Amino acid sequence: MAGTWEELVSKIKDRLDIVDVISEQVVLKKRGQSYWGLCPFHKDKNPSFCVTPHLGIYKCFSCGEAGDALKFIMKTRNIEFKDLIIELADRFGFEVPKSHSKSSGTKELKEQMLAATMVAAEFYNDLLLRNKDANAEIATKYLTKRGIGTDIIKKFHIGVAPKSYSTLYDELRKDFSNDVLEKAGLILKSEKSGYIDRFRNRVIIPIQNENGEFVAFGARALEKDQNPKYLNSSDSLIYNKSKLLYGLYTAKDAIRKEDSVILMEGYFDVISSQAHGIENCVASCGTSLTSDHVKLLSRYTKSRKIYLSFDTDSAGQKATTRGAEIIRDVFAGLGDIKQFDESYVSSDKDKYACEIRVIAPPEGKDPDEFVRSVGADAYKMYMENAPLFIDFRLEQILKQKDNYKTPQEKAQYIKSIIPVLSEIKNRIIRSEYIDMVAQTLSIDANAIKTELKIFERANLPQVDRIVKNVTKNKSILEKAQKNLLSVFLVPDSPLSFSQISEMMADVTFEDEILINVKSTIDKFACTVNNVKELIEHLYTEYIDNPDAQTVLSELTALSDVYRGLDEKDFGNVINETINKINRCKHAKETEHIKNMYKGISDDDPEALKIQIQLRDKIKKLRQSEKI
Ligand code: CTP
Ligand code: MN
Repeated sequence: MAGTWEELVSKIKDRLDIVDVISEQVVLKKRGQSYWGLCPFHKDKNPSFCVTPHLGIYKCFSCGEAGDALKFIMKTRNIEFKDLIIELADRFGFEVPKSHSKSSGTKELKEQMLAATMVAAEFYNDLLLRNKDANAEIATKYLTKRGIGTDIIKKFHIGVAPKSYSTLYDELRKDFSNDVLEKAGLILKSEKSGYIDRFRNRVIIPIQNENGEFVAFGARALEKDQNPKYLNSSDSLIYNKSKLLYGLYTAKDAIRKEDSVILMEGYFDVISSQAHGIENCVASCGTSLTSDHVKLLSRYTKSRKIYLSFDTDSAGQKATTRGAEIIRDVFAGLGDIKQFDESYVSSDKDKYACEIRVIAPPEGKDPDEFVRSVGADAYKMYMENAPLFIDFRLEQILKQKDNYKTPQEKAQYIKSIIPVLSEIKNRIIRSEYIDMVAQTLSIDANAIKTELKIFERANLPQVDRIVKNVTKNKSILEKAQKNLLSVFLVPDSPLSFSQISEMMADVTFEDEILINVKSTIDKFACTVNNVKELIEHLYTEYIDNPDAQTVLSELTALSDVYRGLDEKDFGNVINETINKINRCKHAKETEHIKNMYKGISDDDPEALKIQIQLRDKIKKLRQSEKI
């Protein structure tokens, strides 16, 4: 029996897991009780988007967008509440009360398209396996040459499309309307003769979504001069190629188990590799990698260890760089990206937002050819020794060193290395790399360091701009006090919490929220291990205090400016800020006393006292100005 609409809504709410829902769109990282990620509702550089599962809510501390799982889906998919409830009721198998149910045309069309695509996949596969078409033999030969036998054909549902114009259409028109077949991308309207099959004279590679439903096809030309080499289904109601990865359905268990994934370029790379026991691999379907692909993968790999295994030609190299950039953007702000190997020594507590490695066997083959000609074991060995992306990139750049000879050329060339080096946040590792580069290129390490500083300074203004926006219109004193508090929140700070506390022991904060935040920081500083934990504790503490939350986001933004300073500079910045605060305070108090003094007559017994106070203050002010 269907209950009331309200009952249905509350049943659905119970059933939805907000972390799962949001993870489909946002890469989340757990910190204590909450999950954090980059806000999908504004351009977020540091994670300000917080999901609190026990409350069932999300909130962006930067743009303010907040709500529950249903609101999140409505906003991100731009769907009405009623439609969403009906859709979810259908997914969970709940009955919708008659008063609210409506026959959803879209839903029916989608189901029809899925059914037609599945029947088509079976049809093509059957033609191949049972040798039912003249082309089947050619395709079988072709596939055999590529190392693909019956087992693989069955596992990947590979098929063949005949040469003739309407084999599929003639078969499917009995059960499906032209509209459904056309929308599913199986047939095309031809000018002369009604409808014709879209895929002809090709090996058919059916594409399954995450749930194993057939949603599209990649079709490989059978003849040498047949163009294009691959004909792919266009996007449709059931297929969005920028959100789907080929092979994921068969790879997902392995990806989870290995806690890593290999991104490849082609359908056959994935087919061959999976067939040869390298199961955790996927490929995009004739498009370049998108951030949605990466988000999709991050749901399966906890540690987000991603291998890029593209072709070794120059297009493949570019795709590798581009792919790594996309991956880094997706995980930006969720912590450091693993940039160095264990052998470089760091604390084993380091947790990385992601780890990108590159599998590039020197043989110059794509994974498909490599696995077939050299072997899966050799591939696995390259995988085990795959360099981190940063090493790969540096090596690529350093390999070209002999092309740059004149000082001008060299200078230009070194500029291309600087951005790579600047990504290394750990200072010890960074200096190791600088030395390595300097040695390889026979140049002075200090020159590289200077270039790095210039580069990083030039890249700071963006942060400055944010900070300016945040603190616009605030009094100088308040600004300085916030600046000072923000030093507690600097990631990888060179000073400990207690060292910072000690430095600002004499500073009193005036604003009520700042006083509160400072004392809460003091409270947690003794128990937390790092800045991330501190921030997480603070947000939890202030979950019901929006004003304090706003201040926290401000402090986090401000803290970014102090990132990467060494101990000395960091200490100087703190002292400078304290001095500024003192100057402001003295100036303010002086002003106050001056006003009192003005309002009092000379023969008032208090006058002398105030005069002395004033002189004292002015003296202090002068002193503080001298510092
Ligand atoms: N691709 C495409 N359209 C093309 C060429 C390529 O969509 N005209 C896509 C396909 O998804 C293909 C991938 O890009 O799998 C890799 O291209 P390429 O390296 O040319 O394909 P291979 O898999 O190496 O092709 P082949 O069948 O020749 O091995
Ligand atoms: Mn290839």
